[in-house]
Amino acid sequence: MKNTEFAHKLINWYKIKKRDLPWRHTQDPYRIWLSEIILQQTRVAQGLPYYMKFIENYPTIQDLAKASEAEVLRLWQGLGYYSRARNMHFTAQFVTHQLSGIFPNNYLEIKKLKGIGDYTASAISSFAFGERKAVLDGNVFRVLSRVFGITDDISSTTGKKKFAQIAQDLLPKDESPTYNQAIMEFGALHCIPKNPDCNNCTFSGNCYAETHKQQAELPIKIKKVKTKTRHFLYIIFQYKNQLMLKERTEKDIWKGLYDFPLYEQNSTQNIAILQTIYEETIKQELSHFMIGKKIQVFSNQEFRFEVKKISGIVKHLLSHQKIYAQFLVLDIPNQTIFQKLETKLSAQFYPFETIENLPKPILIADYLKKHFF
Ligand code: ADE
Repeated sequence: MKNTEFAHKLINWYKIKKRDLPWRHTQDPYRIWLSEIILQQTRVAQGLPYYMKFIENYPTIQDLAKASEAEVLRLWQGLGYYSRARNMHFTAQFVTHQLSGIFPNNYLEIKKLKGIGDYTASAISSFAFGERKAVLDGNVFRVLSRVFGITDDISSTTGKKKFAQIAQDLLPKDESPTYNQAIMEFGALHCIPKNPDCNNCTFSGNCYAETHKQQAELPIKIKKVKTKTRHFLYIIFQYKNQLMLKERTEKDIWKGLYDFPLYEQNSTQNIAILQTIYEETIKQELSHFMIGKKIQVFSNQEFRFEVKKISGIVKHLLSHQKIYAQFLVLDIPNQTIFQKLETKLSAQFYPFETIENLPKPILIADYLKKHFF
């Protein structure tokens, strides 16, 4: 099959089967950028409502630049990979203030922006400015490796280079933006990872994977990302209708989001011995007090903390981390300790209504919804 025939078949398929998606009706680089960042780790069905919400709240790049990072993260809540949102916010401010609000109009300049890599720069330069630049995402790797029988490892640098060259060579002279949309759409809807419908495929008879029954093997991806297991013990301090939360500022998952004071453990203990661990941990972290016992805290005052609730172990999966979390709800007995706890833990008490508007990991938002709101 010649390159032109491949492109031709793909575009014909696309014209009949494509989904009507809002970012396909615009040449605004900001909207295309937003859609591509959202869709990078997210399926269209899940990403579309977020795209609509963002456009409604921030119709222009200037509107996004004006928002606070917390507000942007709150809108992004649930999409994961929160650095995508933080980088977008940063770049919106950069374009607004340093580039006079004018989005760069070519691949090389676009790629210099924070948070924009090869794929996104290609997509924006193609869809917004018509640049002849091939996009290469997971869908494209799959289609090319199967149809043309490319067996290079897609996670290796040399493999990526080879695919990039082939993808660029396949790009038709005309209609390259349509072709780019078409190949991604074809990978998303027809040449799917599991059990693709090869009998009803426009490339049937012209596809290496179909002929050699290699659909399940291609594309080849050798590098396996290791999954890390983590054990979180969250302490929820409650004072009337206020809970203590803390912004995550470290270079770790969920930076910029809010969760509760957290004690990371080497393993998740069962509930029976949780109290002992809790005592040990808190004793170290918070001077000396113990659950349900009246003891001295912070020099000359006495406080009694009531354990209101101990949750079961909640399993929360991220792309590269498996988190086992347990929540302990403690009632703050009086206001005197309120401020001391805030200082000691560098955290703050927030009323329920405010908490609702803070950006939170889904693990936290789900717990709150189930037990507090
Ligand atoms: N995935 C990544 N980019 C996409 C696009 N423009 N349309 C549909 N799915 C996509």
